[in-house]
Order: sequence, then C-alpha cells, then structure tokens
Amino acid sequence: MRIVLLGAPGSGKGTQSQRLVQRFGIPQISTGDLLRSAVKRGTPLGIAAKDAMQAGKLVDDSIVLGMIRERLAQPDAAAGYILDGFPRNLAQANALDAMLTEVGQPLTAVVLMEVDNVELTRRIAGRRSCPNCGTVYNIYSMTLGSDLRCTNCAERPELVQRPDDNEETVVHRLRVYDEQTRPLVNYYRAKGLLRTINAQADVDAVTAALVSALSQPAEGRAAAKAKKKAKAKKKAATKAPAKRSAAKPKPKPKPKKKAAAKQRPAKGKAKKAKRAAKKKVAGKKVAKKKAAKKKAAKKKVSRRARPARHR
Ligand code: AP5
Repeated sequence: MRIVLLGAPGSGKGTQSQRLVQRFGIPQISTGDLLRSAVKRGTPLGIAAKDAMQAGKLVDDSIVLGMIRERLAQPDAAAGYILDGFPRNLAQANALDAMLTEVGQPLTAVVLMEVDNVELTRRIAGRRSCPNCGTVYNIYSMTLGSDLRCTNCAERPELVQRPDDNEETVVHRLRVYDEQTRPLVNYYRAKGLLRTINAQADVDAVTAALVSALSQPAEGRAAAKAKKKAKAKKKAATKAPAKRSAAKPKPKPKPKKKAAAKQRPAKGKAKKAKRAAKKKVAGKKVAKKKAAKKKAAKKKVSRRARPARHR
C-alpha cells in the first residue's frame, strides 16, 4: 500500500497517518517531520530549510526530493508507506512518479482530506505537541482543566506550539496550499488515484471514512465505471423499443384488391367482354339471316310443288 494523504495544513494528515500506521503496519513519511528534525539537529539541510518553514513557504524542491529519495530507499518502506505532506506541488508529484516508475512501485491511492478554512485555522491555533515524543494534542479537545503536559512521557514535559503555527504564517500556509498543492487534486484524479473524504468530522469518523475510501475505487475509476454502466443502460433502452415493436399489433390488412377488382373489371377484360358480346350479337344476326333465307327457300319449293288449281 503506497498512499498519499493530501490536504491543507491542519486537515489532520499527521493524526490520521498515525492511525493508518497502527492499522496497516506501514511507516508514515512526513516531510514536515523530517525537516523539523533536520532543523532541530542543525544539519546543513535543516539550516537551509529553516527560514522557508518559519515563513510558511515551501522548502526548495531539490532539498525535499533528496530527502524523500533517501527515505523511500530504507527497508521499512519496501512494504508500503503513507506520504504525509508530500508531494506539495506538481514538480514534486512528477518527480515522485518518475522515482516510483523507476522501481516499478507506483502509488496505490491518494486521499484528499477536505476541511473548511475556519476549522483549519481553529485546529492549527489549538495544536500543541510533546517536545520529547512528538505526540500531537489539541487544546480544544483536551479534558477541561488538564495541565497541557504530555500524558505519554514519564517526565510529563510541557506541551509546545510549533513556531509556524502562528496566525500570520497560517494565512500564508493556506494560500500556498491553494496555489501550489491544490492542483494536485486534478493531477491525481486524472491518474485515477484520487479519493476524497470529509475530514471535518471527529477523529474517529475521519479514520472510518479514510479506511473505507481506501477500499473503494478511485474517483476517476468510479466515474468511468458509472459512465460504462450508464452507457450499457442506454444501449439496453434503445434496444427495448425494438422488442416492443415486435410485440406491436399487426397493421390492419390493406383492402383486398381482388374485391375491388371484382367491382371494377380491368380495362383489358372489359374490352374482351364487349368484343365477345358483339360477336354473339353478330352471330345471332347471321343465324337469323340464315334461318330467314332457309324459310324463303322452303316457301319457294312448296309453291312450286303446289297443284295448279291453286294458282
Ligand atoms: P507540515 O508539517 O507538513 O505541515 P502542514 O502540511 O502545514 O500540515 P500540518 O502538520 O499543519 O497539519 P496536519 O494536516 O498534519 O494536521 P494534524 O494532524 O497535525 O509542513 C510544515 C512546513 O514544512 C511547511 O510549511 C513547509 O515549509 C515545509 N514542508 C513540508 N513538506 C514540504 C514539501 N513537501 N515541500 C516543501 N516544503 C515542505 O492536525 C492539526 C491539529 O488538529 C492537531 O492539533 C490535531 O490534534 C487536530 N485534529 C486533527 N484531526 C482532527 C479532527 N478530526 N477534529 C478535531 N481536531 C483534529
């Protein structure tokens, strides 16, 4: 599992990363924590990063990428990891892609944690952490009257506020997020890796949403799946009328030509009948003439044969 938690400062990336570490047994890789550690130790890298961090600006890409490359090569990252606060701009995202393609281990999911600016500011203002073990607290969720000391360490050190958690720097950090980090939302959506959760709820509800999102298909894929389903539905719908038309009542039979033909004989037939009738009449006339001729001849014969006295 190789996950990126994407979200504005104070959205709970660090808090939820800790919970995923417990759940999945993979390390959290926080560039913020790595940089803070370098600053604390006073390493050259820390010295180079300090000013940018305190101003709420992004530390130089070359510093961060060198640090990430080194961290990803450590054995505990072989089985997967949770990237918290990295990548933070398109150049870092492209460099990470190239790095992971090189080793054939691409990201498996990117989760965007959405929280509104009022809540982000409240959370950042209330954040306190243990200088010894690094446990993160928030004054707004601590038991009323508690003495702002770490409950995890035996010496119970007093909790401290991060130097960049002051009002002025927070405004700048939120602006930097909008301008440089938010474009990664579309970048990862286009890659079919993005899941979005409402991270405004309480810590347990956010963890549940996060774990559930990791088991769901990414937004691009979910959209592609839904599109495919809709296409299939449309196809089925266009086929259906064809089926219905098969079941349609048969069209009324056209009036029979034969009947009409009976009423109105065809031109050719009428002519034939007329000719036949004429022939019949002519034949009758001829027969009549013949009969008259015969009769006259008979009369002549009988007159000749009559005795003279009659004359
Ligand atoms: P970084 O340490 O990464 O800070 P960030 O991104 O600004 O994020 P935060 O640590 O402030 O917030 P978070 O989302 O982790 O919230 P958390 O869980 O602590 O970076 C610091 C600086 O380092 C940068 O400004 C930059 O200069 C530099 N840097 C780091 N990475 C870099 C990079 N890749 N490239 C260049 N520069 C880089 O929660 C916040 C508070 O809210 C806590 O008190 C917590 O208890 C509380 N809380 C958490 N969840 C909830 C909840 N659900 N309900 C109520 N309270 C909650």
